[in-house]
Amino acid sequence: MEQLAVVIGVGGLGTALARGLMRGRRLLLADVDGERAAAVSRDLGGPVEPVQCDVTSPTSVKALAESVAQRGKLDVLVHVAGLSPAAGDFDSIVRVNMVGPALVTDTLLPLANSGASAVMISSLAANLGRIPAAAIPVLRDYAAAHELPARLRSVLDPGSDDANSAYRLSKYGLLMLVRRSAKLWGRRNARIVSLSPGLIATPMGARETATNPAKRKLVKAWPLGREGKVQEIVDVVEFLVSDRASFISGTDILVDGGLAGSICDVPFGWPEPH
Ligand SMILES: NC(=O)c1ccc[n+]([C@@H]2O[C@H](COP(=O)([O-])OP(=O)(O)OC[C@H]3O[C@@H](n4cnc5c(N)ncnc54)[C@H](O)[C@@H]3O)[C@@H](O)[C@H]2O)c1
Repeated sequence: MEQLAVVIGVGGLGTALARGLMRGRRLLLADVDGERAAAVSRDLGGPVEPVQCDVTSPTSVKALAESVAQRGKLDVLVHVAGLSPAAGDFDSIVRVNMVGPALVTDTLLPLANSGASAVMISSLAANLGRIPAAAIPVLRDYAAAHELPARLRSVLDPGSDDANSAYRLSKYGLLMLVRRSAKLWGRRNARIVSLSPGLIATPMGARETATNPAKRKLVKAWPLGREGKVQEIVDVVEFLVSDRASFISGTDILVDGGLAGSICDVPFGWPEPH
């Protein structure tokens, strides 16, 4: 029986990932933009079906789970949907990048087959510098809650609730979600990991370079003298969802060409000391 894979977010990266994952699998492609999901499905051809889904809406995510259940069990989940700092404000970025993945993993886990794997796309941004200590319990306790942005704002320094901060906090929260979810997924003999891409040549990546001074600073530091290719992320995801990665769970895979290390010599976004 062919495996069933769900790809959520079919922009630059998600479309390439779907193209790679469709070999030997049936695919459900979900996006808040239902027309985009339908167009990408048509382009890919084969056993690919579009679903309109807003990951920030519990009702919409439940409907996605029902679509999965009608087709069988979940073998592969790749959660790509996300907003870059240029694409939203504090609240929308936190909701799409953190509340969404938390709702999706909670809701789809009961459908996971034995041997299933989930890859949650985080970001290099989660691996740079320190996260305010007071944000850690909030990211843990309110990950799937609509009020998460307000809860975070209440513990941040005044004025630090900008889009860059939302992006870093939400992508760091995703790393935390994956670490604590490994046990639950393991009970079903399933794995969950996050993948943190560095600067990748997608339209989203180009938009950020054009509009975000923090990103332009990063570009000067890259050790390999170039940004990453989409295929370099696709290759790692294909490995992570294969049996060759059968002992990798509850951790983050940083695919950034060495950029984090060249900026910050602390190997993880450690919380600030109290
Ligand atoms: N491109 C890069 O350089 C880079 C670097 C690090 C991390 N990332 C991460 O990779 C992921 C995808 O990047 P991309 O370049 O393909 O971005 P993209 O903007 O091309 O695609 C994002 C997709 O997510 C969808 N989406 C947005 N809100 C949604 C919602 N509420 N529910 C469902 N779908 C929603 C959008 O419609 C879009 O199709 C993001 O999570 C991003 O943070 C990208």
